[in-house]
Amino acid sequence: MSNDARLIAGNEEHSFPVLSGSVGPDVIDIRKLYAQTGMFTYDPGFTSTASCESALTYIDGDEGVLLHRGFSIEELSENSSFMEVSYLLLNGELPSKAELDDFSRTITRHTMLHEQLATFYRGFRRDAHPMAIMCGVVGALSAFYHDSTDISDPLHRKISSHRLIAKMPTIAAMAYKYSVGQPFVYPDNSLSYTGNFLRMTFGVPAEPYVVNPVVEQALDRIFILHADHEQNASTSTVRLAGSSGANPFACIAAGIACLWGPAHGGANEAALNMLKEIGTPDKIPHYIERAKDKNDPFRLMGFGHRVYKNYDPRATVMQKTVREVLTALKVNDPIFEVALQLEEMALNDPYFIEKKLFPNVDFYSGIILSAIGFPTTMFTVLFALARTVGWVAQWNEMISDPGQKIGRPRQLYTGPTARDYVPLDKR
Ligand code: CMC
Repeated sequence: MSNDARLIAGNEEHSFPVLSGSVGPDVIDIRKLYAQTGMFTYDPGFTSTASCESALTYIDGDEGVLLHRGFSIEELSENSSFMEVSYLLLNGELPSKAELDDFSRTITRHTMLHEQLATFYRGFRRDAHPMAIMCGVVGALSAFYHDSTDISDPLHRKISSHRLIAKMPTIAAMAYKYSVGQPFVYPDNSLSYTGNFLRMTFGVPAEPYVVNPVVEQALDRIFILHADHEQNASTSTVRLAGSSGANPFACIAAGIACLWGPAHGGANEAALNMLKEIGTPDKIPHYIERAKDKNDPFRLMGFGHRVYKNYDPRATVMQKTVREVLTALKVNDPIFEVALQLEEMALNDPYFIEKKLFPNVDFYSGIILSAIGFPTTMFTVLFALARTVGWVAQWNEMISDPGQKIGRPRQLYTGPTARDYVPLDKR
């Protein structure tokens, strides 16, 4: 059987190669489609389009599988650390002890920000959403670190990648400190990546800050769960921005802007707000009915996923982590009970069963982050912090690909055809 896909367009038959990856669906290579047929494909939302070749992350949405470089998210979140997963994503293999130590040391050495950036923060209103600050400050990094923006130089790419991963916690913590009117806390390189972030966020210069190991481990796990997720909207944004040759700081700022939306990274904030609005288990049926009503724009936030149509493996790990954190912090959050009951009720409802809607990673993360002490406005910031490694790894993969081209989708034009301009006094 030929390994080609045939397309009959008009009276002609055209043949296109079918390419196979290491696992997952084959793809029809339509790069010559326009040249051969004069037609484009039409795929709003890119639901059937593979936009690139990638060896980083594999998802099987029907089976609820998520692999980074071949390793399952369950194993990584149970046994690994965010630093190790970052190394894995960037380099393709798990590090030896010496390699991990060296990588962690390198990242640690880049955690400080140029001092002038502290002044930059003061240009924002105190009530600015921290994601607005993140877009601005991360984009501004290219104005401070010119010495690593030559994307054709692999060393520049490596240094800017390390800088982005290392400085993101500092930038995020400073965005929080600015919003609550507390002094910025400088990094402490004797702490872990996540411990340092907790101290910069919740520590104050007036007293010592002791990192709670349960919280540190839970947050590190949350970072692992968010590290990469193949060609999602923000990653595709980073790749598209990077395809023009834009510098990595500008590309990651573009990714942050995309992540902010409530259908993507903003869903964890929206999910917790929704759970608070529901408030008590007796109100759940009302909200489930609203989610099912086609005339009501309300959706169950933290439910459904473009790719996962069975369950989101990250949600399972997250649900377990909620229990650990609430127990360790002795927090009795009634919202957790609402979340558990809402999940159970929705999973037994024919609407959600038929449409294959399951809790996603964002359904439970808000409860943990809130118990740790983060305000809801910081939730997407934490997502951005963790996803930076995925964005950076995907960006590096794209730039190193000799076949890389500027991204330039086409369209199905439905506007007016050519017509004559009518002068103002004749309209
Ligand atoms: N509540 C109620 N109905 C839903 C929901 C929901 N959360 N999600 C999808 N549906 C329905 C939708 O109305 C549609 O029904 P119909 O076929 O009758 O028109 C059907 O399910 C398919 O929905 P879709 O919007 O075409 O599916 P999609 O794959 O384009 O969207 C999604 C995926 C994540 C945007 C969507 O499920 C959603 O809006 N969920 C809530 C927001 C959310 O939790 N987002 C976080 C995603 S995970 C983190 C991340 O990747 O950033």
